[in-house]
Amino acid sequence: MCSEHHAQVLVASNRGPLSYALREDGTLDARRGGGGLVSGLSAIGPDVNALWVCSALGDGDREAVRRGVGERGVRMLAIDAETHADAYNGVANSVLWFVHHLLYQTPLEPSFGTEFRRQWAAYEAYNEAFAEALAAEAAPGAAVLVQDYHLALVPGMLRSLRADLRIGHFSHTPWAPLDYFRMLPDDIAERLLRGMLGADRLGFLTRRWADAFVGCAEGVLGAGALGGTRIGVHGLGADADFLRERARRGDVEERLADLREQIGGAGGAGGSAGRKAIVRVDRTELSKNIVRGLHAYRLLLDEHPEWRERVTHVAFAYPSRQDLAVYRSYTAEVSRVAAEINAAYGTADWTPVILHVKDDFARSLAAYRLADVALVNPIRDGMNLVAKEVPVVSDEGCALVLSREAGAYEELGDDALVVNPYDVTATAAALHTALTMPVDERAERTKRLAVAATSLPPGRWFLEQLEALRR
Ligand code: G6P
Repeated sequence: MCSEHHAQVLVASNRGPLSYALREDGTLDARRGGGGLVSGLSAIGPDVNALWVCSALGDGDREAVRRGVGERGVRMLAIDAETHADAYNGVANSVLWFVHHLLYQTPLEPSFGTEFRRQWAAYEAYNEAFAEALAAEAAPGAAVLVQDYHLALVPGMLRSLRADLRIGHFSHTPWAPLDYFRMLPDDIAERLLRGMLGADRLGFLTRRWADAFVGCAEGVLGAGALGGTRIGVHGLGADADFLRERARRGDVEERLADLREQIGGAGGAGGSAGRKAIVRVDRTELSKNIVRGLHAYRLLLDEHPEWRERVTHVAFAYPSRQDLAVYRSYTAEVSRVAAEINAAYGTADWTPVILHVKDDFARSLAAYRLADVALVNPIRDGMNLVAKEVPVVSDEGCALVLSREAGAYEELGDDALVVNPYDVTATAAALHTALTMPVDERAERTKRLAVAATSLPPGRWFLEQLEALRR
C-alpha cells in the first residue's frame, strides 16, 4: 500500500462532494457540491491527509471512475448500477427514509416480501463495498466518519475488518420512534442497529433524534444494548460568513430584481410598502409538506380576503429523487395545487403562487433576502437548514413559521411561530400572524434567530465530532 492510501481522516457518504456529467463531445464536466459536510471537512486544513469515499451516482460518475479521472482527496466507488439502485432507491430512500420520516400510508405499506429481501441483499453488498474501501484506505488508528442511513451497516462491517480504527457515524435525518421502527422485519431492525453500534460514537442533529435511537436500540436489542458506543448531539448551524458574502453578489442582486418584478404590487414589492412575500425553499421532498403548505396559503386567502393581491407565495420546489414514482407524483401534485390556487384567485396583475422548480441557489438567496415570511413546515426533518439560513441573510427581518417536527425547532422555537405541520388551519392562522407582525418585533426576532442559527458553524460542527471521536 502506498502512502496516499493511508488517510488519517475519512468521510464516507453516498453522495460525494463532486459529480461528473458527460458532455456531448464525450468529455467530462466536474461539478462541486455544497453543504455542511463539504465546508465542515475543509476545516481540518491541508496538512491532514483526508479522504472522502463516496458512490458514483450517475453515468458521468461511472465514466469518470472508468477513465481514472478523479480529484485528490475523493475516491468514488463504481458500485454496480443495479446494486446501487436497489440499495439507494429501494432500501435507503424507499424504506429507511420513510421509516425515519414517518411517511408510510400504513393501510397498504410497507409490505416486506421477496422483493424487499432482494433489495436488502443489495444494500448489504453496497455497505460492504464502502467498508472494504475504507478498510483499504485508512491509516492505522485513523478516524472514519460515516454519514447517514445509506451506510448504517458500515460501522459494524468496518469494525470487523479494522479493529484499530476510530469509527463515528452521523445521522442527518431524524430517527424513528420505537413503535414505528418496529415495522421493519425483526432481523432487519436488529441488523441496522447492530451495524450502527459497531461505531465508537453515533452523532445526531438533536437530542430528540438521539433519544429515539437509544429507545430503538434498547427496545429491540434490550437494556445495555449501547455497550461501549457513545452518543453525541451536534446541531449543524448555518455558515454565516459564507452566506452573508454569497447573498450580496451580483447574480443574487439580479435575481432579487427579477423576483420583485414577478411579485409585483403597488409601491414596488418586497419592502414594507409593497406586496408581501411568503417564501419557501425546499427539495420537492415528501417530508417537506409542500402541499399542505399550499392548502394553508389558500385557506389564508379564504379566511382573510384582505390579503388577496397584497401577498404572494414564492415557492421553490427543486427536483429530488425523481427515480421514485411517489416523488414524481408528489412533484406533479405540488404543481397542480399551485395552478389551482392561481386559477381560483389570480387577477390580471397578481399571481398568488410563484412556483419555481429549477434549482438555482442564487435565486434561493434572493428569495431569502426579500421574504417577509418564511414557511418551513416539514412533517419531520433532521434539522432543516432553510430555517437557519433565512434569518442570516434577510434584508429587513423575516417572520419564521416553523414546524415543531423540524430539528431546527429545538434551537429556533422561541422566536419562530411554531406549527403542527398537519394542522392546515393553524398553519394558515400562523401565516396571518406572521404577515401582521410589527416590523420592529420581526427584526428583533430575526436577530435572535440568526444568532441561534449560527451557533455551530459547519467547521466547528465537524471538528467537534472529530475531537469527540478521538477522545
Ligand atoms: C438528506 C440526506 C442526505 C441526502 C440529501 C439529498 O439531507 O440526509 O444524505 O444527500 O437529503 O438527498 P439525495 O437523495 O439527493 O442525496
